[in-house]
Amino acid sequence: MAFSTVRKSFAVAALAAVAAAQSTCDLVGSQTSIDSYKRFQIDYTSEQSEYWSTACSDLKPSCILMPTTTQEVAAIVSILAANNESFAIKSGGHNPNNYFASIDGGPLISTKKLDQVILDPVAQTVRVGPGNRWDEVSGALDGSGFSVVGGRIGNVGVGGYLLGAGLSFMSTEYGWAANSILEYELVLANASVVSVTESNHPDLFMALKGGGSNFGIVTSYLLQAYPQGDVWGGNLIFDATPEISKAMLAAVRDFTENYDDEKAGIIVTAERTLATLVDLWVIFLYYNGPEPPEGIFDKFFAISKFKINTCKTQSMHSLLSGNNWAIVKGSVYTIGTETMPLPNEANGAEVMQKIFDHWVDVSNKVQLVPGLIASIAFQPLPKKLAQVARAKGGDMLDVDDDIDRIVLELDYSFVSNLSYPKIDQTMRDTYGGFKTIVEDYQDSGLLPKDVYLPLFQNDCFYPQDYFGRLKPEKMALARRVQAEVDPKGMWKTRTDGFKIPSEY
Ligand SMILES: Cc1cc2nc3c(=O)[nH]c(=O)nc-3n(C[C@H](O)[C@H](O)[C@H](O)COP(=O)(O)OP(=O)(O)OC[C@H]3O[C@@H](n4cnc5c(N)ncnc54)[C@H](O)[C@@H]3O)c2cc1C
Ligand SMILES: *[C@@H]1O[C@H](CO)[C@@H](O)[C@H](O)[C@H]1NC(C)=O
Ligand SMILES: *[C@@H]1O[C@H](CO)[C@@H](O)[C@H](O)[C@H]1NC(C)=O
Ligand SMILES: *[C@@H]1O[C@H](CO)[C@@H](O)[C@H](O)[C@H]1NC(C)=O
Repeated sequence: MAFSTVRKSFAVAALAAVAAAQSTCDLVGSQTSIDSYKRFQIDYTSEQSEYWSTACSDLKPSCILMPTTTQEVAAIVSILAANNESFAIKSGGHNPNNYFASIDGGPLISTKKLDQVILDPVAQTVRVGPGNRWDEVSGALDGSGFSVVGGRIGNVGVGGYLLGAGLSFMSTEYGWAANSILEYELVLANASVVSVTESNHPDLFMALKGGGSNFGIVTSYLLQAYPQGDVWGGNLIFDATPEISKAMLAAVRDFTENYDDEKAGIIVTAERTLATLVDLWVIFLYYNGPEPPEGIFDKFFAISKFKINTCKTQSMHSLLSGNNWAIVKGSVYTIGTETMPLPNEANGAEVMQKIFDHWVDVSNKVQLVPGLIASIAFQPLPKKLAQVARAKGGDMLDVDDDIDRIVLELDYSFVSNLSYPKIDQTMRDTYGGFKTIVEDYQDSGLLPKDVYLPLFQNDCFYPQDYFGRLKPEKMALARRVQAEVDPKGMWKTRTDGFKIPSEY
């Protein structure tokens, strides 16, 4: 394995001419010793089971390549550069959009074996391979006195999460996860390897902070490490009765506006299991310290009759792996999002209820879809987050602190992929309806007008226009960088994902 790159470099040169005629899988298999698995082999089957959505698992790549070094990734890219096959890159496989990290009939590059976690306590940095999941990163750092800004549910992958900017429990304290990336090791379309930092490639560095998989394959991230002691957190679970829903919507609005302490984090979710008519509120709470100061989460604890409270003092690793209960495998998943301005206190009850009721109404219409579970998450994006993100150098989202916002995240899950076309429309109707509700309230003066409302990429449904909702100057930067690093359109035309729209 260690010698494969040496053997590879002349093999690629020799074979470039005939590569177009042969498949990537065949060429990697015959010309390199990079680990490659075919259908029905154990490693292939187990890697295919590692998707959040079973619809992604059911797409069958022609082979799964598992490079162990950056050089092996570069060797694969140079073989790809000599043909025109479609391919996919996979980290944790948590993105449920079909064909983003999955593929039918082309090679899949799994980053699973690019799995280093190397802490430098003196420099206060951690080098993290994209093949990790966040609970593996927190596990490796457990007891070290350091942590990194990452996922809130341990099983989510590092690779895709960080390219979509990453919303963390620590985001109001330290910004999007991408704001704490110091360097990207990146394999470009021409198979050269670059270390991308703010000083050596400022535009590419910016483009990678929320620009997705348009610029190359990241083979490692150098992350800022932050001193870390015990944290406090867990879940509160409530029945979603009408009064509790009303109180919950008021609580998340107030919390977002007042955001008393940047060390606090919350996700407020509602879940509907439509077959059994069980409606719940599931709240994720977090505080960066062994106990939250008096009062911080009172609005949630004051809502009476929670059924379950798992909040406690624990390590970051225990919190993130504990949150893995929320990952239920065996279903097809879809995800979607919209961003709303936070209503003020006077208009809060009406606006928040209207959003919630729209979600309930749309999900009621697909009650008969087998196994349907609908969820909505209210994720605060307070001014403080925008301030710290900019102070740390900014990112593609470039959110201002003119207003507070809420990032709404939606999931529909169901048993059979035959229901996908129906749910596809339901998903569009749900976030499309949110956008209309927001615009109507902007027109009638209940929500602020002329405000910037970007979409959060990690929560986007595949047809959502992530780049089109960014500021024009960021879109222009993404286009310029893409023209520079991907002149032949390798990532643009041969991989799926959120793509930078062409100018015309
Ligand atoms: C249960 C759950 C909880 C979640 N919680 C959060 C959260 O707290 N915060 C948040 O921000 N998001 C969250 N997400 C969304 C998540 O960040 C996205 O789904 C993200 O894309 C998943 O990352 P992954 O590495 O598992 O992605 P994958 O599905 O493996 O990949 C996603 C995309 O990134 C590309 N990609 C992956 N690795 C690389 C690489 N090394 N180089 C180039 N391209 C690459 C893939 O080709 C694909 O297009 C959550 C998702 C789930 C299912
Ligand atoms: C699932 O359905 C979607 C939408 O109809 C389709 O694009 C995808 O290919 C299907 N997946 C499988 C594995 O058949
Ligand atoms: C890729 O190559 C094949 C075979 O040469 C050709 O038929 C096909 O049109 C090419 N596709 C693209 C997108 O260029
Ligand atoms: C690879 O592409 C980069 C970005 O376009 C360029 O700077 C570099 O010179 C290229 N390397 C080779 C070997 O062509």
